[in-house]
Amino acid sequence: MMAQAQLHSLCLLTLYLTAGHGLEGKFSGPLKPMTFSIFEGQEPSQIIFQFKASPPAVTFKLTGETDGIFEIQPDGLLYHNRALDRETRAVHKLQVSALDAHGNTVEGPVPITVEVKDINDNRPTFLQSKYEGSVRQNSRPGKPFMYVNATDLDDPDTPNGQLFYQIVMQLPKVNDVMYFQINNKTGEISLTLAGSKELDPSKNPSYNLVVSVKDMGGQTENSFSDSTSVDITVKENIWKAPEPVEIVENSTDPHPMKITQVRWNEPGAHYSLLEKEKLPRFPFSIDQEGDIYVTQPLDREEKDSYVFYAVAKDELGKPLSIPLHIHVKVKDINDNPPTCPPTMPVFEVQENEQIVSSIGTLVAHDMDEENTVNSVLHYKIVDQFPKFPKDGLFLVQTYTGVFQLAKQSLKKQDAAQYLLTVEVSDKDFQTLCQVKINVIDINDQIPIFEKSDYGNLTLAEDTAVGSTILTIQATDADEPFTGSSKILYRITQGDDEGRLGIDTDPQNNTGYVIIKKPLDFETTAIHNIVFQAENPEPLVHGVQYNASSFATFTLFVTNVNEAPQFPQHIVQAKVSEDVAIGTKVGNMTAKDPEGLDISYSLRGDTRGWLRIDPATGEIFSAAPLDREAESLYRVQVVATEVGGSSLSTAAGFHLALTDVNDNPPRLAKEYTGLFFCHPLSAPGSHIIQATDDDLQSFRGPQFTFALGSESLQNDWEISKINGTHARLSTKHTRFEERVYNVPIRINDGGRPPLEGTVSLPVTFCSCVEGRCFRPVGHMPGIPTVGATVGVLLTTFLVIGVILTVVFIRLKKNKGKDNVESAQGSEATPLRN
Ligand SMILES: *[C@@H]1O[C@H](CO)[C@@H](O)[C@H](O)[C@H]1NC(C)=O
Ligand SMILES: *[C@@H]1O[C@H](CO)[C@@H](O)[C@H](O)[C@H]1NC(C)=O
Ligand SMILES: *[C@@H]1O[C@H](CO)[C@@H](O)[C@H](O)[C@H]1NC(C)=O
Ligand SMILES: *[C@@H]1O[C@H](CO)[C@@H](O)[C@H](O)[C@H]1NC(C)=O
Ligand SMILES: *[C@@H]1O[C@H](CO)[C@@H](O)[C@H](O)[C@H]1NC(C)=O
Ligand SMILES: *[C@@H]1O[C@H](CO)[C@@H](O)[C@H](O)[C@H]1NC(C)=O
Ligand SMILES: *[C@@H]1O[C@H](CO)[C@@H](O)[C@H](O)[C@H]1NC(C)=O
Ligand SMILES: *[C@@H]1O[C@H](CO)[C@@H](O)[C@H](O)[C@H]1NC(C)=O
Repeated sequence: MMAQAQLHSLCLLTLYLTAGHGLEGKFSGPLKPMTFSIFEGQEPSQIIFQFKASPPAVTFKLTGETDGIFEIQPDGLLYHNRALDRETRAVHKLQVSALDAHGNTVEGPVPITVEVKDINDNRPTFLQSKYEGSVRQNSRPGKPFMYVNATDLDDPDTPNGQLFYQIVMQLPKVNDVMYFQINNKTGEISLTLAGSKELDPSKNPSYNLVVSVKDMGGQTENSFSDSTSVDITVKENIWKAPEPVEIVENSTDPHPMKITQVRWNEPGAHYSLLEKEKLPRFPFSIDQEGDIYVTQPLDREEKDSYVFYAVAKDELGKPLSIPLHIHVKVKDINDNPPTCPPTMPVFEVQENEQIVSSIGTLVAHDMDEENTVNSVLHYKIVDQFPKFPKDGLFLVQTYTGVFQLAKQSLKKQDAAQYLLTVEVSDKDFQTLCQVKINVIDINDQIPIFEKSDYGNLTLAEDTAVGSTILTIQATDADEPFTGSSKILYRITQGDDEGRLGIDTDPQNNTGYVIIKKPLDFETTAIHNIVFQAENPEPLVHGVQYNASSFATFTLFVTNVNEAPQFPQHIVQAKVSEDVAIGTKVGNMTAKDPEGLDISYSLRGDTRGWLRIDPATGEIFSAAPLDREAESLYRVQVVATEVGGSSLSTAAGFHLALTDVNDNPPRLAKEYTGLFFCHPLSAPGSHIIQATDDDLQSFRGPQFTFALGSESLQNDWEISKINGTHARLSTKHTRFEERVYNVPIRINDGGRPPLEGTVSLPVTFCSCVEGRCFRPVGHMPGIPTVGATVGVLLTTFLVIGVILTVVFIRLKKNKGKDNVESAQGSEATPLRN
């Protein structure tokens, strides 16, 4: 059957070769090394190549890994006689030689390689139909703990042999959460993050997975597949933090000393310790069994607890799981003796202190743990120095360290100071501390003046304040620089006004009598002074100040002629501005300390408004006063002694003038430029403003305006705009070309009301370019600037003459019919 097929195929090829000369080189050619790729399993038999022989070669020979599949015909036709199988042999190495008629090799052997190309003709197969594995609780997610493995005979370099693993099912599955995952290429199975956290053997110790494998990388529908069952047991995690450890401090046991241990779930882990806080020394270590040691004795007083971590790592130094907290507490032993206070305590006891009085507390320290027997202290006095007048003068309370007087009050003459030695003890140790006790004096001595009378002293009354006038001295026999010996001097008589004071030198109790306020012959000419010397501390019972603590002194004050004195530097008075001449507006009274008569006069009465009575100091108005000129009138009143040295003093007299309505209203400015262009084409108007010099209310003035006479009402009209402004309007257009003086009455509405009549000049004139213009010579007046320039230029000389005349006439007629150019800002000219 095989021979038949082969024959059939060869016939086809022969046909093909004869017909296809053009394909020479692809399917036929001379003998040379060649490589062919042929898919496995395809054709049962096939021509591969036709070698062409060249003389003297007449035939070909095939050798090598033919496996009985490859053959060559004498005419050079290379073919395979059955289907190839890559899984049997992927590459066939053949040699072809060309032989001559005698069978001698004339060419070759030439290597011919046939590569068998893969087709997906093998299905993946799991090596086991069932897998079993186990995993520790809390294992690191993604770290493989087992694998499944399938094989596929197809070429692993092609998709045909690429396998794809997948977990198809997990049983049981809680809340649809996958605890396991598989590496889709390698088949390695590990925990997911959820699995690492949630797996718990006490809840569910075993799981079953169905795992599938596909070839073609699992990416096509046409892949082969296989599946297997995986049973997984969950084992307890023994990587747990140990219980806190207690270590007794200052241990004499040999070190290092095992204190606790940690264990990784599998052997072979690498253990280490990690400090949590940076310490000067870290007295712990761990060995590769996971046993933890303390390496040296600890000291609770240095550090009473430690926290650090134990870490387990794999061979590559990757942490196998979370670090574990290790707590170590250092247990106290009584290894510290009590210590005395850093400076020796000094207690003070007064001479007359009662027995049993507490006089101080000794506080010693113990570094051992507080509130334990190791740090509770006992106090005991073991020595007293000096033992005079007797031993055991003091006692100390055993637990509190409070000292008391035990037998009697102390006397400084016996001993000014005692030194006590106190034994302070805890459970095991004794420490000696020292305490000093000073016996302090009591105030049983009074200050005694060196003399009882400091004699007479005469001073002028103008002796400067701050002068020291006397030094006094008393002494006190009590202990120096205490409240019992310090002296306070007081003046108990002769200085009711407090003109004197006494400063005391703290070193030697010298008293300095000083003038604090000016002396005054006129008030007190003789001071009969009594000094007293006292202590700030009260005297002890039974001792009293006696006459030796007092001293006398007489101070005579002599008179000095002094200037008169006003009681005030400035006197204010107020009067209405319209007071009649001769009205009394104020009075100024000075006194002479020596009682001399005084004469008064005024200084600075620049307006001559005032007069003063030289004898009484009364001040009168001497002229009409005017608030509008000066609202506060300031003068000085001079008081001069009559006779003697004629000393004088001045004081201010300020007279405030209150307003009365004594000024009629007037126009706020001179309205000289009001004009209308003549002839008037329509009625026009101007605005005028009034003012008043009197003090106005906060609302401002409230003037009313009226025409000066009734007859004017046919031509003019005046209307009020507001309190200060009014509008003057023409009533018709029939005005002559001349100046009209319009009388206007303005009333200020005050109390009493005052009225002023003003005459407002209004000019009617011909206009050029809106300005008042008068033909030269026609009417007297100053030519309008600008408007008349042309005229001026042509008749310059004539004007020169006329101007002279004009000026003269202008002066004569001033205020009557003067004519101005239209420069007034208030004007609103009307164009013709
Ligand atoms: C699976 O088996 C193949 C063939 O026996 C082997 O080459 C491969 O290394 C195995 N895979 C693993 C992950 O051990
Ligand atoms: C296979 O796993 C890799 C890495 O875990 C992933 O990136 C890839 O998407 C997976 N392939 C498929 C088809 O799920
Ligand atoms: C340890 O105890 C001994 C007495 O038991 C003491 O002398 C020593 O000072 C102690 N060491 C420390 C560090 O406390
Ligand atoms: C002090 O003055 C009084 C009275 O003038 C006089 O009697 C006395 O003798 C004077 N004393 C001295 C020490 O001058
Ligand atoms: C007291 O001390 C002051 C200043 O040190 C000195 O000037 C004065 O003379 C002393 N007084 C006596 C009485 O020693
Ligand atoms: C005052 O008392 C002291 C003793 O405290 C004594 O020395 C002195 O003489 C007494 N002086 C008078 C005046 O009694
Ligand atoms: C002067 O004024 C004072 C009040 O300043 C007054 O007591 C005295 O009587 C007045 N004297 C005369 C003379 O008016
Ligand atoms: C009064 O009226 C005049 C003109 O209208 C104006 O300028 C002025 O400000 C007014 N005065 C007050 C107080 O309103």
